[in-house]
Amino acid sequence: MRCNAIQFSQAGGPEQLQWVEIEVGEPGAGQVRVRHEAVGLNYIDVYHRTGLYPMPLPAGLGMEGAGVVDAVGEGVTHLKVGDRVAYASNPPGAYAEARVMPAMNVCVLPDTISFETGAAMMLKGLTAQYLLKKTLPVEGLQAGDFVLFHAAAGGVGLIACQWAKHLGLQLIGTAGSDEKCALAKAHGASHVINYRTDDFVARVKDITGGKGVKVVYDSVGKDTFTGSLDCLRPFGLLASFGNASGPVDPIAPGMLGPKGSVYLTRQTVFTHISSREATQAMANDLFDVVGSGAVNIRIDQRYALKNAAQAHTDLEARNTTGSTIFTL
Ligand SMILES: NC(=O)c1ccc[n+]([C@@H]2O[C@H](COP(=O)([O-])OP(=O)(O)OC[C@H]3O[C@@H](n4cnc5c(N)ncnc54)[C@H](OP(=O)(O)O)[C@@H]3O)[C@@H](O)[C@H]2O)c1
Repeated sequence: MRCNAIQFSQAGGPEQLQWVEIEVGEPGAGQVRVRHEAVGLNYIDVYHRTGLYPMPLPAGLGMEGAGVVDAVGEGVTHLKVGDRVAYASNPPGAYAEARVMPAMNVCVLPDTISFETGAAMMLKGLTAQYLLKKTLPVEGLQAGDFVLFHAAAGGVGLIACQWAKHLGLQLIGTAGSDEKCALAKAHGASHVINYRTDDFVARVKDITGGKGVKVVYDSVGKDTFTGSLDCLRPFGLLASFGNASGPVDPIAPGMLGPKGSVYLTRQTVFTHISSREATQAMANDLFDVVGSGAVNIRIDQRYALKNAAQAHTDLEARNTTGSTIFTL
């Protein structure tokens, strides 16, 4: 079967993304073929395209999508032809009308959740899930605790704002404009800081009465890393999980002592979803909060898949909020 897909043969800018025809084969053992109805855009797609996370080329792109299973390989027991599904998964290749992929991370989508919402929420929502529920400080997180979440008006950010509120946490959100700050507040952030105009470290100290927060969730990377460490209370946890402003410079572990014996971790969702059971348990948790309305998946941008380059340009220019999807 042949279909159209985005591929790139050289790392670089959005102009490297080409709309090409590809051959989609039959699924092998442990694989399924999915016909996409919608595909998700994630910042990791930019890291793949630029070569920050190198891949053998030429390659496809994209790690999140939703659609219908149209062929099932040997040994796959949790899916059948005709199932409505959604996924966050390796390897990249979601920017395609159809694909063959490992079945392990592909989950049946509840009837109440649309394909578009599925494509907008799996990678970002499973990330918010493990950050807020599994990436915990040594003292745990209790209702009323302060956490700091950077880029709070983005795709992962708006999900995290709502989920943190649902858990009773006081999430202090940073964002790059007053409009984005207002959006994060409307989605459950207890306090917001425009980190382009305000000193976020000083503001966090003010908000927390000088104590600092138990956890900082930092996906901005280079520009915020040092300030994030300074926002922690003693024994606090810096959960680094991205590099939208560039990779963090190397650090000496000795610096963590004077900051209050703080902890540092660098997390990736793919460690958390490395088994079928773990994937399904996390997805069920996400389906519950989306199904109950505690977390609303906001799709603020839609592009035709063949215009993926424009979506990348807008994401990197910090011109997007919430989730972005590709339609087919
Ligand atoms: N490790 C993991 O498991 C994992 C999983 C999913 C996502 N992530 C990371 O989480 C972050 C959010 O992902 P997302 O897909 O939801 O993207 P997103 O938050 O919708 O977009 C990235 C945001 O980062 C902020 N940003 C700050 N400095 C930036 C800069 N110099 N250039 C570009 N953006 C900058 C911008 O918001 P402001 O304008 O408000 O600053 C921008 O909108 C990304 O860093 C991603 O890599 C990590």
